[in-house]
Amino acid sequence: MKRILLVGKNGQVGWELQRTLATLGEVIAVDRQTMDLANPDSIRNAIRTTQPSLIVNAAAYTAVDKAESEPELAMAINGVAPGIMAEEAKRLGAAMVHYSTDYVFDGTRTLPYTEEDNPNPLNVYGKTKLAGDLAIQAAGIPHLIFRTSWVYGLRGNNFLLTILRLAKERDELKIVDDQIGAPTWCRMIAEATGQVLSQCCSPFAINSGVYNMTAAGQTSWYGFAQAILENAPSQVQSLSRLIPITTPEYPLPALRPPFAILSTDKLKQVFGLDMSSWNSSLRLCLDQ
Ligand SMILES: NC(=O)c1ccc[n+]([C@@H]2O[C@H](COP(=O)([O-])OP(=O)(O)OC[C@H]3O[C@@H](n4cnc5c(N)ncnc54)[C@H](OP(=O)(O)O)[C@@H]3O)[C@@H](O)[C@H]2O)c1
Repeated sequence: MKRILLVGKNGQVGWELQRTLATLGEVIAVDRQTMDLANPDSIRNAIRTTQPSLIVNAAAYTAVDKAESEPELAMAINGVAPGIMAEEAKRLGAAMVHYSTDYVFDGTRTLPYTEEDNPNPLNVYGKTKLAGDLAIQAAGIPHLIFRTSWVYGLRGNNFLLTILRLAKERDELKIVDDQIGAPTWCRMIAEATGQVLSQCCSPFAINSGVYNMTAAGQTSWYGFAQAILENAPSQVQSLSRLIPITTPEYPLPALRPPFAILSTDKLKQVFGLDMSSWNSSLRLCLDQ
């Protein structure tokens, strides 16, 4: 039986993984108190104490705008910590699962990005996440890096919960309509991870690498907001107008890629996984 160390158990994806990984082995789920990714000794101690055969890292510094003013901390957590986990995994002969982001790309294309496309992150968050991906790849351990996007769920901080809150507080909302992406339910990511892992008995020695893992289809933040409100009419208490705006009309510290669609063909070819569409999974999520 595998012993799985799940890092970041309270995050959106981490929370869902607690359930999906439980069918695959003994899960030891840790939070920042037990394993602080900003502290290399804490990382090493937690891994050496736990002796996992698989490390699943769902923790990250995900505050995209704040990262612009805390680049060292973001790099420690997103760029350096995954490399330390990978080194420790190598000592133990363990494998590693990690999550990456659409924000490693600059979004200047109009066709979905594949795993072969060259990253060119526009912001600190994207640069630090890319550094983490490269550190894991350089360690030469069995690994799976799942690149996902626009993650939401019913807990934590995310666009869905922000829109539902604002629909009760505001009468008008202006939402950016010129950034295109694929909103992805955190439960979908956890379930897809579980399905991949259940196929990997001798851990992914052959299939190590980066895999895009996002919902199918595409929309803008404005389109996502529209769909949230249409599917949760009882939450729309004060809101009467949703207004599409451009990125320059809503300036933020971090630049975002205008087009952040990732092709999931490799996930399908290698593991036979079809990701469901962003709007059908949004409906399922809101049904909860
Ligand atoms: N959110 C998105 O839209 C998005 C998009 C693309 C890719 N991703 C990637 O998907 C993965 C999962 O994201 P998510 O949305 O589930 O993240 P999340 O909800 O923001 O959760 C991140 C988790 O990381 C933990 N964490 C942060 N700093 C830490 C530290 N120093 N030591 C230990 N734990 C720390 C947090 O702990 P606390 O609860 O204590 O703060 C939190 O539980 C990440 O790799 C992320 O980069 C996310």
